[in-house]
Amino acid sequence: MSQKVILAYSGGLDTSVAIRWLKENYDYDVIAVTVDVGSEKDSAAVKEKALQVGAVKAVVVDAKEAFVKDYIFPALKAGAVYENVYPMATSLARPLIAKILTDVAQEEDAVAIAHGCTGKGNDQVRFEVVINALAPKMKIVAPAREWGMTREETIKYAEKYEIPVPVKSGHAYSVDENIWGRSVECGVLEDPWIEPPAEVYAWTKSSIDAPDQAAYCEISFEHGVPVALNGIAMNGLDLINELNQLAGLHGIGRIDHVENRLVGIKSREIYEAPAAVALLVAHQALEDLTLAKDQARFKLKVTQEFSDIIYNGLWFSANRLDLSAYIDSTQRFVSGLVRLKLSKGNCIVVGRKSPYSLYAHSLATYEKGDQFDQSAAPGFIHIFGLPVKTQAELQPRFNISAEKSDKGNNK
Ligand code: ARG
Repeated sequence: MSQKVILAYSGGLDTSVAIRWLKENYDYDVIAVTVDVGSEKDSAAVKEKALQVGAVKAVVVDAKEAFVKDYIFPALKAGAVYENVYPMATSLARPLIAKILTDVAQEEDAVAIAHGCTGKGNDQVRFEVVINALAPKMKIVAPAREWGMTREETIKYAEKYEIPVPVKSGHAYSVDENIWGRSVECGVLEDPWIEPPAEVYAWTKSSIDAPDQAAYCEISFEHGVPVALNGIAMNGLDLINELNQLAGLHGIGRIDHVENRLVGIKSREIYEAPAAVALLVAHQALEDLTLAKDQARFKLKVTQEFSDIIYNGLWFSANRLDLSAYIDSTQRFVSGLVRLKLSKGNCIVVGRKSPYSLYAHSLATYEKGDQFDQSAAPGFIHIFGLPVKTQAELQPRFNISAEKSDKGNNK
């Protein structure tokens, strides 16, 4: 009897060819596992295709709720975005998919796990690092990295074995999507100078086509997690789906990013992440209101580290776990309501309130009721400015204004 391999199966050309290729080259029986993290694919059809192409078994796992609860919301609480712009839909889903693959591998007594990633991307790293973390003895096979076929050769291989080749759309884009966002690369996008053609966008209107009338929406958070939209309590999945529709309609969440891949390549990617962008903006606004200055400053450093951890596939690491504990602690008072205005591609915070707000009107106001003691200011400034004053007196040569005039004189 042949040994079993678990294949991360998307239903696309590469993973379909891989089913056959794993049999031919390794004599493995393939169990195809498709993890539904919210792409628009018909999972029943994907499963059917796996069997038709030669898998001995095909499983579809609906992981949408777990994705929201255990991956998206921790990332949202962290404010995680890669290189300041990319909310990391793909990066966040990979550890969950890899975890499910290892679970199924253990249940099925499989000897190996296979994925369809090439040797140039981040996803191979994410899959394999997670598998190493969760099942250190598991063998990993990456057919598309090993077989060395060009796209044309892969298609020929598919035709030879009567593997259905997806109808060519005419555009050579590579797309990945889940509820946190959609990403598009390749084709004309490989030239960073070329403006993305309209056809690459599927979730968002252009700002020109977005409705003239702005939409307002109110998002309620509890401990950093969104729990209601426009006053209606919702589970995370419904809330994200709804916000994807609404913010997408208003042209929010288009991102054009030349990013630094983990494998040393710069790549140009177009993202659509309407709900992610709106939620990150709203969450930040609530933190502005409820975190003290030093908490906010320090958290920013953790955000940076946490984002890199996610992008680099290190979700299942002790370091990530430790930082998550810190992040959860910061969210104790991040509860309240944020009001957003969605208009022509802009997502603007127009209101925020919280029972734990640190904004004290009596301190901030310039009107009646001001309780800020202005007479304390001169003493504060005297001590705060003392080092600068002392230095200016004792090291006049390095005084900034003196330096300027020195240069002026030399000319
Ligand atoms: N560059 C992104 C990342 O590494 C997305 C990659 C998604 N793949 C794709 N075929 N568009 O997370």
